[in-house]
Amino acid sequence: MNNIIIAIDGPAGSGKSTVSKLVAKELGLLYLDTGAMYRALTLKAMRENVDLEDGEALTLMTEKTLIRLDTMPDAETKVFLDGSDVTFEIRTPEVTDNIKYIARVPGVRRSMVKIQRETAAKKGAVLEGRDTTTVVFPDAQYKFYLDADLKERAARRFKELRSLGIETALSDVEKDAKKRDISDETRKVGALKRAKDAVYIDTTSMSIDEVVKKILAEIKKIK
Ligand code: C5P
Repeated sequence: MNNIIIAIDGPAGSGKSTVSKLVAKELGLLYLDTGAMYRALTLKAMRENVDLEDGEALTLMTEKTLIRLDTMPDAETKVFLDGSDVTFEIRTPEVTDNIKYIARVPGVRRSMVKIQRETAAKKGAVLEGRDTTTVVFPDAQYKFYLDADLKERAARRFKELRSLGIETALSDVEKDAKKRDISDETRKVGALKRAKDAVYIDTTSMSIDEVVKKILAEIKKIK
């Protein structure tokens, strides 16, 4: 499959990342984790003490930043910020908490969307995030919206944080997930929306394998 674009959106914890990686691996496509790019920019702004309320400063910083995503043979992605590996640093709760300031800035999103389009168009890709089906590739051949109940999404995130050695309480993870839903769904640019022509999948009681199979079956149907 060449130059095929598969766009997958949904809220945090809907299973997008895990599923997208496996779909990309199965189809031999590049996997593009667009959230990792916003995370890397957030980390840089925090490290350099850029005022998170200053959209212009954040746009300027973005224009001077080099973000590289390298997909490893096992489909894991390494994230490089101006040449340094920040794969783990971008997953901390502090970074997650501050992404909303970066993600709402139109100039920042313009730069990210441009890179995402250029990278994916070269050889095709599976892109996942919040606006890949609505802004980045609204005309993608294959579009999916993954969803799950808040409690289930929080439980998944809690497990993921634990596996990264980050200790927190499940109730805090649930509160954070709810806050992130609100900021993702209500920002003026690049908000999380369910595209009318995206295939909707509720993953609450599905295994990863079932979701991957469902997506691959839908792709065969649409082909
Ligand atoms: O997917 P992940 O949870 O790593 O994304 C982190 C945050 O980055 C999201 O909560 C969202 O605010 C932002 N994001 C975005 N646009 C995307 C992907 C992620 O604004 N396409």
